[in-house]
Amino acid sequence: MSQSFDVIVIGAGPGGYVAAIRAAQLGFNTACIDEFKNKEGKASLGGTCLNVGCIPSKALLESSENVERVEHKFASHGITVEGMKFDVGTMLARKEGIVSKLTQGIGYLFKKNKVASLHGHGKILGRNGDKWQVEVTDGDKVEVVETTHIILATGSTPRQLPQAPVDNVLVLDNEGALSIPAVPKRLGVIGAGVIGLEMGSVWKRLGSEVTILEGAPGFLLAADEAIAKEAHKIFTKDLGLIIKTSLKIGNITKGENDVTVEYTDAEGNAFTEVFDKLIVSIGRLPNTWNLAAESVGLPLDERGYVIVDGDCRTSLPNLWAVGDVVRGPMLAHKASEEGVAVAERIAGQHPHIDFNNVPWVIYTSPEMAWVGKTEQALKAEGVEYKKGQFPFGPNGRALGLGETAGFVKMLACAKTDRILGVHIIGPFASELITEAVVAMEFNASAEDIARIVHAHPSLAEAMHEAALGCDKRGLHS
Ligand code: FAD
Ligand code: NAI
Repeated sequence: MSQSFDVIVIGAGPGGYVAAIRAAQLGFNTACIDEFKNKEGKASLGGTCLNVGCIPSKALLESSENVERVEHKFASHGITVEGMKFDVGTMLARKEGIVSKLTQGIGYLFKKNKVASLHGHGKILGRNGDKWQVEVTDGDKVEVVETTHIILATGSTPRQLPQAPVDNVLVLDNEGALSIPAVPKRLGVIGAGVIGLEMGSVWKRLGSEVTILEGAPGFLLAADEAIAKEAHKIFTKDLGLIIKTSLKIGNITKGENDVTVEYTDAEGNAFTEVFDKLIVSIGRLPNTWNLAAESVGLPLDERGYVIVDGDCRTSLPNLWAVGDVVRGPMLAHKASEEGVAVAERIAGQHPHIDFNNVPWVIYTSPEMAWVGKTEQALKAEGVEYKKGQFPFGPNGRALGLGETAGFVKMLACAKTDRILGVHIIGPFASELITEAVVAMEFNASAEDIARIVHAHPSLAEAMHEAALGCDKRGLHS
């Protein structure tokens, strides 16, 4: 007799594990199937985010920023460090320690909430009456379990360049980029997106010469143009990243210890560069390989995403999908909120996610964060707007921190004053953006933020001034 559940979640990343916990909290007999194994070959919950994504990247970003602080920022405080040394091995071990603490924490949360954790590859076999049959394969062990509802949360994997398959020795994906054992002298990065910039920053700060090769005709095209322009200036002039855009990548040849990349620019000029390591970060693809028997007819779009409606429902009965495997931004918090919402919908509740208010953060230094519409999107849509912008330069807290680069920009409707978008580049932008998200969720106006007391001295005062700026009554500009 096979095990039977109310809800089975396939994938234990931030979409899946959170969905499983919420389903169990709501009284469903829940299981979560996950196949991820870490470098030691051990099952490790948490998906891409905890194992090889958000968490380890932020750990390494912090380590490399500490190096940068000692090398370039402490002197202004009168602190000099003679003969500063750092050890990449210790940084990697610290990162692994954080990962294992958090991934083990999910095991604990599963036990606490009575979620059954099944290790292996999950595959939907089909329906038997009103139940789904799911096969779980772990090596030679094959088990079939049944369930009323399935939540697919299988996430994504890196897109590869056909001419340079990832070996995580010379050609690296995110996993390899987070585990380079010694600082490479020459690091190539293909793709100036989020991973390229975060990982490029880490290794540049630790001493690599970093060249980022981007195919698109511009830089950070999804961001507000003012943010992208400021970021480009800081990354190239201050940090020293070499960023080349409008390129067509040609042959990539692996040598014994290096990789040669051929490319042409927009004018057709040909270039050849040799790197000690090459990170390929050109986007990610949804994980749907061997996820369902053909007879199931899992609905996929032309790019391989599971097709769902606004409520994460597929066209098949009681089959839901959340996170990176469905449309929308590939972000951990978006995946988690979808997971919670689906569990609540299964329980008959009516949750709502406003996808316009999902914040984006890029954890470079300075950080970038935004929510809502960019200025160029408002222009394209013909929306009349007003703008308030305030730099961190004159902000007392930013001066104290020694982190004065960047600004806060607020966009509000010209007629109603309702906030339409907030864009930040600067210190702790990842934390500051939450004020804007909360404001937008409550349909706040710029005037609302302008009338709220903001602590002094705080970075959030820049948000306050940006809001005042929407009404052209900034007090410090
Ligand atoms: P995943 O986290 O990918 O989890 C899916 C899980 O399902 C995996 O464990 C996978 O092994 C498993 N699985 C797949 N197929 C099957 C199957 N058939 N059977 C069983 N198990 C299966 N996002 C942010 O919001 N903030 C960040 O700072 C951030 N940093 C990132 C840094 C890097 C380097 C990368 C690569 C990504 C980063 N992301 C970040 C994106 C974030 O990791 C993803 O959006 C998030 O992990 C998606 O969650 P998910 O639950 O949909 O899928
Ligand atoms: P990305 O979509 O952010 O960037 C990929 C870049 O590669 C784009 O600029 C694209 O134009 C370029 N590109 C694509 N094909 C190319 C080619 N053939 N040659 C040259 N350039 C090419 O993807 P990335 O960096 O791989 O990250 C994947 C996703 O992971 C992100 O979109 C994001 O959703 C998530 N992520 C989120 C983070 C965060 O929230 N801080 C951090 C890291 C990743």
